[in-house]
Amino acid sequence: MSHYRIAVFASGEGSNFQNLVNASANGALGGAKVELLVCDKPEAPVVKRARDAGIKVHLFTPKSYTSREEYEHEIVTQLESLDIQLVVLAGYMRLLTSVIVDRYAGRLINIHPSLLPAFPGTNAIGQAMEYGVKMTGATVHLVDGGMDTGPVIAQRSVEINVDDTLKSLTKAIHDIEEKLYPQVVSWFAQGQIVIEGRHITRIDPNK
Ligand code: GAR
Repeated sequence: MSHYRIAVFASGEGSNFQNLVNASANGALGGAKVELLVCDKPEAPVVKRARDAGIKVHLFTPKSYTSREEYEHEIVTQLESLDIQLVVLAGYMRLLTSVIVDRYAGRLINIHPSLLPAFPGTNAIGQAMEYGVKMTGATVHLVDGGMDTGPVIAQRSVEINVDDTLKSLTKAIHDIEEKLYPQVVSWFAQGQIVIEGRHITRIDPNK
């Protein structure tokens, strides 16, 4: 039986990438399989994770291109050649242009470490601590042309305690991301996601 084919874009550590690979191996990704890692940082730990897992890697160095569109065209060619059905951003620290956003509209998701629309952009966990909110979390959303502005698919919250540090809160958020992202990818893989403008619902087959 053919499986649902996903590509993961990541720039750093790759714990979400690893969670998706593990979930796929454990049958917890709704039949989805990670076919490709796209990475803009040759030295990023996520590259080794992909190689260890035997997953194809598309590596590029942005500054050797004259525009974002130029390297994104190459990425799209690669995604199309592998017949990728869902593009999953997991700590990919670059804004995408319409070259990818339009081509994969409705099939392009991101995970962000805050309860959007609060604290978009970089250092979201630090921003939440600085602001003094008592609750933060993680959001999975569709990607549009803006910075963390696309329709929300799912969110999970985490309390911020007085004795939390950036390190402990980051760990707490990674722990919820570990469950949340594979779950959302499995919903896509099983055709359970319905998109109506900014309103996204999941059809639960058990209800
Ligand atoms: C994750 O916490 C993800 O939510 C965040 O980067 C981290 C990547 O960790 N993404 C963003 O901040 C996007 N704006 P990882 O490389 O260990 O998966």
